[in-house]
Amino acid sequence: MKTLVLYQSKTGNTEKYANDIAKRVGADIFPLKRFKAKKLADYDTIVFGGWVKAGKIQGIDDFLSNWDLMKDKDVIIFSVGMSMATKETRANMIETNVLYDYHMRYYQFRGSFDFNKLGPIEKFMMKKAVDTIAKNPEMNADQAVLATIIDTPIEFYDQEKVDRVVSVIETLALEKKS
Ligand SMILES: Cc1cc2nc3c(=O)[nH]c(=O)nc-3n(C[C@H](O)[C@H](O)[C@H](O)COP(=O)(O)O)c2cc1C
Repeated sequence: MKTLVLYQSKTGNTEKYANDIAKRVGADIFPLKRFKAKKLADYDTIVFGGWVKAGKIQGIDDFLSNWDLMKDKDVIIFSVGMSMATKETRANMIETNVLYDYHMRYYQFRGSFDFNKLGPIEKFMMKKAVDTIAKNPEMNADQAVLATIIDTPIEFYDQEKVDRVVSVIETLALEKKS
């Protein structure tokens, strides 16, 4: 069974998760932008990881535009964002990224965030978003964390989720062998 891991990463968190998963299952790995869709035919299980910007998984539209080439394969998607993974954030991600239209497995990973590493446009976007959140007196726990991120970098590695995705890929490989 051949596994492919594709990813889109801005500051390296998604790339690290993608690399760790690929290494553990012996998968081929490529940045999404450097992968030719016609090569999808060579694989049985396809994993795509993208970082989250304003609720949108970066690269997801490009990735899903080739769904016809993947619809008979096992597809696993993971998103990497600073939000905590809850039932509510998961539902929002599925809705915003139209994942409900596809037969696939979806996992929400938590990444790291350091305001000082951003470029000027992203700094501006984040400042605006945080200002809006901070003004809301009814913010939830997740939003309360977001309200502090400009001054306090978040550093997180979701070992449990990596283990889970690895275990799913290994189970799929066993099923295909039998
Ligand atoms: C402009 C901008 C918008 C972001 N929007 C979100 C968001 O809506 N939800 C979220 O969970 N994380 C959001 N993040 C956090 C990133 O997804 C997080 O830092 C992630 O780890 C980046 O992954 P990367 O290192 O692979 O680029 C945002 C970050 C930036 C810079």
